[in-house]
Amino acid sequence: MLRGRELWLAALAAIAITIIYGIVVFLSRGIPAASDLFGHSLGIFGFILMLMTETLYSLRKRARSARWGRMSSWLQFHIFTGLVGPYMVLLHTSWKFNGLAGVTMLFTVIIVISGFIGRYIYTRVPRTLDGTVIEGAVPEEILRRTRRLMALWHTIHIPIGMALFTAAFIHIGAALYYATLLK
Ligand code: HEM
Ligand code: HEM
Repeated sequence: MLRGRELWLAALAAIAITIIYGIVVFLSRGIPAASDLFGHSLGIFGFILMLMTETLYSLRKRARSARWGRMSSWLQFHIFTGLVGPYMVLLHTSWKFNGLAGVTMLFTVIIVISGFIGRYIYTRVPRTLDGTVIEGAVPEEILRRTRRLMALWHTIHIPIGMALFTAAFIHIGAALYYATLLK
């Protein structure tokens, strides 16, 4: 199921984005500002990918009877957008991390690190393509412990996401008001 293909694809996408970023830096002879066309676009597209990360997998997970796509594919897509989105947002910051926007970036980094921890726990037990744990494949005790660990991880990962999106919406509102509309 999760064999790391999504990590390779995310790395390839990050390399492509880095090349484009490099070309822009070279042509404009400077770091793109968060509020100019390129920097702004990075922030907006990155944020859209992050919003998709936050919502799509959860929606699919709660619609178990639905036939659209396997759970494992949705989780792979979750991880892909959960890495590429934050990377674009990182390039959007123009390497300045002041105030609430800086805090939003910090939350973003934390949720990505937390995601890797979750992925590690998740992949420790064998699952079907639909994400269901294959009973009997490992000793019962390991299953029970993994389930408890995963539940604990959820209680940490989900509030971080909420704090992140609250901060992000305030940043976006303030940035649009002060840096875009008042210009
Ligand atoms: C999670 C998503 C986002 C994060 C983590 C983030 C983070 C940041 C950071 C760290 C800065 C630099 C602040 C500084 O100067 O120290 C910044 C600037 C800015 N961001 Fe974002 N951003 C995000 C999404 C967005 C989106 C979606 C928009 C637009 C709709 C946006 C608009 C801006 C603007 C206009 C600035 C420049 C502000 C100025 O020049 O004073 N950001 N952002
Ligand atoms: C913008 C970044 C991210 C956000 C906002 C985010 C958000 C979420 C949310 C809300 C859930 C709960 C889904 C549910 O049970 O309904 C979740 C689960 C999960 N996420 Fe992320 N995530 C992000 C990045 C990542 C990354 C980078 C990885 C892996 C490297 C990852 C791996 C996981 C895993 C393994 C689960 C658990 C799946 C399950 O229990 O069914 N996430 N994430």
